Order: sequence, then C-alpha cells, then structure tokens
Amino acid sequence: MARAEGGIRLGVAYYPEQSPRQRWALDAQLMADAGLSLVRMGEFGWAQLEPEPGRFEFAWLEEAIDLFAGHGLQVVLGTPTATPPIWLVREHPDILPVGPDQHRVGFGNRRHYCPNAPAFLEATDRIVTALGEHFGRDPRVCAWQIDNELGGRCYCDHCRVAFQLWLMRKYERIESLNESWGTAFWSQRYDAWRDVGLPDSDPVPADGFSRRAPNPGLALDFRRFVSDSYLRYLRRQRELLRSLIRPEQRITHNLMGFSFAEIDYAALSDELDFVSWDNYPSLDPSGSWTVPALSADAMRGLKRRRVWVMEQQVGPLGWEYVRTPRRGQMRLHAYQAVGHGAEALVFFRWQTARFGTEQHWFGVLDADGTAGRRYRELVGLAEELRRLDVLERAEPEAHVALLHDYDSRFALQVQPANAALGHHAAVHGWYAALRRLGLGVDVVPTRSDLSPYRIVVVPSMPVVDELVAAQLTAYVESGGTLVVGPRAGVRDRSGAVPDRRAPAWLDRLLGIEVTDIASSDEVVEVQGLIGGAFRGWFEELAILEGTALASYVSGDFAGAAAISERQHGSGTAAYIGGVGDDALLESLFRTLCGRLDLPLFELPPDVELIPLRYRDDPLFFVLNHGDREQRIALSDGNWRDLIGGVVGDRFVIPTFDVVLLRGEESGPRGGADEQSVVEVAV
Ligand code: GAL
Ligand code: ZN
Repeated sequence: MARAEGGIRLGVAYYPEQSPRQRWALDAQLMADAGLSLVRMGEFGWAQLEPEPGRFEFAWLEEAIDLFAGHGLQVVLGTPTATPPIWLVREHPDILPVGPDQHRVGFGNRRHYCPNAPAFLEATDRIVTALGEHFGRDPRVCAWQIDNELGGRCYCDHCRVAFQLWLMRKYERIESLNESWGTAFWSQRYDAWRDVGLPDSDPVPADGFSRRAPNPGLALDFRRFVSDSYLRYLRRQRELLRSLIRPEQRITHNLMGFSFAEIDYAALSDELDFVSWDNYPSLDPSGSWTVPALSADAMRGLKRRRVWVMEQQVGPLGWEYVRTPRRGQMRLHAYQAVGHGAEALVFFRWQTARFGTEQHWFGVLDADGTAGRRYRELVGLAEELRRLDVLERAEPEAHVALLHDYDSRFALQVQPANAALGHHAAVHGWYAALRRLGLGVDVVPTRSDLSPYRIVVVPSMPVVDELVAAQLTAYVESGGTLVVGPRAGVRDRSGAVPDRRAPAWLDRLLGIEVTDIASSDEVVEVQGLIGGAFRGWFEELAILEGTALASYVSGDFAGAAAISERQHGSGTAAYIGGVGDDALLESLFRTLCGRLDLPLFELPPDVELIPLRYRDDPLFFVLNHGDREQRIALSDGNWRDLIGGVVGDRFVIPTFDVVLLRGEESGPRGGADEQSVVEVAV
C-alpha cells in the first residue's frame, strides 16, 4: 500500500473504459511510482457497466480495481448516473430534461436526465444496487462518489407534478400558498394544486429588466424545489448504498465550489460522510487567488471538517476555451487547497483526453500517454508532501466566520435589485478583504455554531427570520463582534417583504432602521472613523442606539449615517448600509479586528497567508500568487520553512512559490501593536 503522503493523499481520475486494457498496468505502475494512493473511476461508465437493461458487466472494473490495488492504490468508485446509456433514453425518452422553453435536451452529452423522472429513478436503483452488492464489501474500495456534479434545472411534466406535490407537502392548503406567494397580486390566485405550473421565465438578468418576471414566491420555491430534487436524488442513492456497503466505505459527492448556486450545499452535505469538491482555479477569468480560496473555505465550512478535492486541476483546460496554469501553479494551487483543509487531492485527469467532448483537456500524462512535465511535477509534489507530516494534524485556523444562506442566495437570483448586491460578489468582496489582512475565515451556513469565532460577518442576507436573529443576538450578547451588510432582512423565509422596517428582526440588535434606499451606478464617498466609498447601493440609516462609524459625504443622503455600530450585551454589532469598496472593507475590518487583538498582517495583493493550528505552534503558509518574486521580512522569532528549509527572518519567495513557516520556541503572534508578523517589503 502506498503510504499517505505526509497525511495528505494524492490520486487521479482514471477512465479504464477510455484506454486500452494493455495500457492499464503501465498506468498503475506510473501512479505507484509517483507516490499516488487514490484512483477514482467509474463515474461515467454506465453504458459499459450495464450494456443492456439488467445485464451487468463488472468484470472490466473488477480487473481494473485488482490491478490498481495491486499497485497500492485505493479506489473511489463513482455511481455512473450522470451518463444514462442510450437504451434507457430509447425506452424512456421522458428521462431527458426539458428547458424552460419546453425544448427537450438530446442524447450525446452528459447530465441528460430529469431527477424526477420515474423511469430514471428506477434505472438508478437498479445500477446502484448492483454496484453496491458487487463492490460494497470490497476492501479496496475506500469511498463512493454519488453521481457527478449534480445540477441543472428541468421543466418537464414530471417536474411539474413533483413540484405540485412538493408544494402540497409544504403548504398543506392551497390557501396558505396563495397567502405566502401574495397571489392577490395580478389575479395570480390558485384554486387547485394541479394548476400550479413551473415559472416559464428565468432570472431577471442582474443588470436588466424583465416584463415576464414570475411571482417571486413561485420563483423562490421553484429554486428550492430544484435543489431539493437533487438532494432527494442523492439521498436515494446514499440510502441504497448504505444498506449494502461496509461502514468503512465512505460516501461523498463532488461539489462545485462556492460559485455554483443552484443547490443548497448546506443541506446536501448533511447527506454525505465527507465533503469533496472540484477545484479548477484557472476556470475563473479574474485569476484572483481569493476565488478558489473562498470555495475551499466554503466547502470546508459545510461540515466544518477537512475535505477532499475530488478533482484538482493539473494542466490546461480544454473544451470551450483553453486556459493554462502557468509553470509552477499546479503545485501552488495544490498547496493552497491543502492549506485550506484538503486532506486528499485527486487530480483531474490521468491522461490528456484524446476524444469526446473533453478532447484536449490536459491530464497528468500527455495525450500520447507520455509521462512528461506535469507527471514530473506531480512526482515532486508527492515527494515534498511526504516530508510534511505536520500537515496531517494541522487544521486551518479561523478567527472569523462568514455566514451565508441559500434562501438569501436564491432570493437574490429572483430579484437582484442591483448587480452590486450579487450574493457571490458580496461574499467574495468581504472574504477577500478579511483574507488580505491574513485572517483565517470559515465560510459557514446559517445555523452553524458561532461560539468559536471572534468575529461573525454577514455580507448578504436579505432573507432573515426570528431564528437567525435570535442566533445572532445570542452571539453578540455573549461578547461577539457582528458585522452585517446591506439589504439584510428585506424578506422573510417565504420571500415576502416583512411588515416591519429593514433590517427586519435585526433592527433591535443593530440599533438602526433603514429609512431610505438608493440604487444607481454612482460611487459615493463615506467618511468617519472608517473611510471609503459605496458603489451601486446606498441606504440611509437612522441610528436608534449606538454611533455612526461613517456618514455620507455627498448625494441625497449627505450627512446621514452610512455605517453604524452599537454595544449590545458584552459584544458589538455593526451594519454597513451600502456596497463598500475594498478600501472601506479593509479599513473597517482592520479597525474591528485590531480592537480584538487579532493577528493582522501587511501583505501585498498577490501574497496569501493561511494561518494553521498545529499544537500550540504558530504555523502558516505564505503563497506567492503573483508573477514576480516577493521579499518577505518576518518580525522577530525563529522561523523555519518546512518545505524549503529556509531559516531566518528575511527571504525571497519566487513567483508561484510557497513556504510553510513554523515558529520555533516562542514565535510571536502578531498583536495589534506589533502588526505585521509577516511584513513584505517590495
Ligand atoms: C468537472 C467534471 C469532470 C470534467 C472536468 C473538466 O466539472 O466533474 O467530469 O468534466 O470538470 O471538464
Ligand atoms: Zn424534469
């Protein structure tokens, strides 16, 4: 058995059905030589595993598992349901999903199924049962991945009926639905469940206007229903597998990071033994290191436990466009994922695809099977990780919790109000500002335990209810510092506007009322203890308790409070009444965190610092994401780079390089007065 690489396991996605059998042994050997210990397979192999209804051919997979296990690799087995075979489509064309325009998707891609089609559920049960019975006792299989990247909205008749049932269960009486959706408006009243249809138009573009925007209650419930359909679909597979497989085999699904917004991952992750996700840093056109970092922290935050990266980018992306990681970035991104709590990295994919939709999607090996530069880099990474046994028990350290909520996210998709308020943009903006100060952040769903955190920030939560308000109030009363962003509490859980001023249910805690709003493309300066600018969205605040941290300098709200703060119990609650720019957010967080004596750092924009907890020693990664070298100056203490062995307090990190610093003896923790333990002189 290949040993775990310093506690971090490495692996690859492998498709035995896509390569000639005589090649497998060489591949297994190369993987073993590279020090890999995991191989994921099977997730798209339905047509090969069940070539005809009810006739299973598992011998090839069995043989592949034998071979790879013989080389010390453990197998993650995918259920192949993302790719229903042609015979199923031929027999039951109604399993194919339908778009909002009622056009039925054809065969020849993947994810061509409706999660509510009875024939598809039946076929799912059959293949999953057969796989579970066959491989569920196999000690060489360590984990199962259910399906692959669940998602996609279907508007077919099965979904319409399932939606009606879902609504019946939720509202019980059609009158409650009418009340909740406010169907007194535009004669939208329903008198029978069977008349409720799916919204026929989809979201209002963030920067636009649609005359066909559906009833927001309908649109919001439809989103929840879609999310729930996938949750139920996953649960169905999970329950089947659980009844058949050994307890040691753990069940997961590969999530798509924080930018994917169609499924309530907080609910979905409750179904999983562990969270795994797919990390493609070069897919993000901004190229900012904070985007994959946010995903990593959000995926870890779902269960607040370490995760696996089930697909980690290894080379240029193929398909629609080609984006290439620069030399050294594969390793850098791997360390970034590990720093944020990944305990396994499964690289996508082994060999560069030669055919199919993903032709030219680069793998570890070249298209002709040669083990070239990317293979050598992977070998190097595995060797390094093997020496870093601290990583086995080092956990990301989080001083701050960033709260997010899928109902709020869905509600903003339905009615964005202003592009500047977009959920991902808001969360990312706040997250990035905190991380630029070197703080560790857990990105967690509402209802998480907040007691471990010194600061809780809530950048985007239009949907609030009494429960959330009670949770946040208790947190502040017991000494926490809370920061809430604009547009909080403008809807209740049903999506209706509360009969109470914003921020509804949070007004007492925050000590404010929003007396007016303005939405435009303007930028308006705000000044006070905190300085900076708002862009796009502005709220006029009346302070009932507490003080203004900043006021509007100009515009309609000139002189009015823009950011508020009050003491409550033994804590503090602040509210930002607009979309703050980077400088404003940084200045606010610097002030609040400084007061709490949290360690703050001076970092240039391209340098990421990830604090870790390992026994009582200070330990952190410093990653240079920029394409020029950075000079690092550490404040006093004895520091050692566990990767490169550099000792001392002044050194250079080359482009795309990384150090893992451990303080020896009593390394200093940066307090408010000794800011910048790591100071980067450029
Ligand atoms: C992922 C997917 C993989 C592969 C990869 C590259 O989203 O799970 O199967 O398609 O992207 O496109
Ligand atoms: Zn459907």
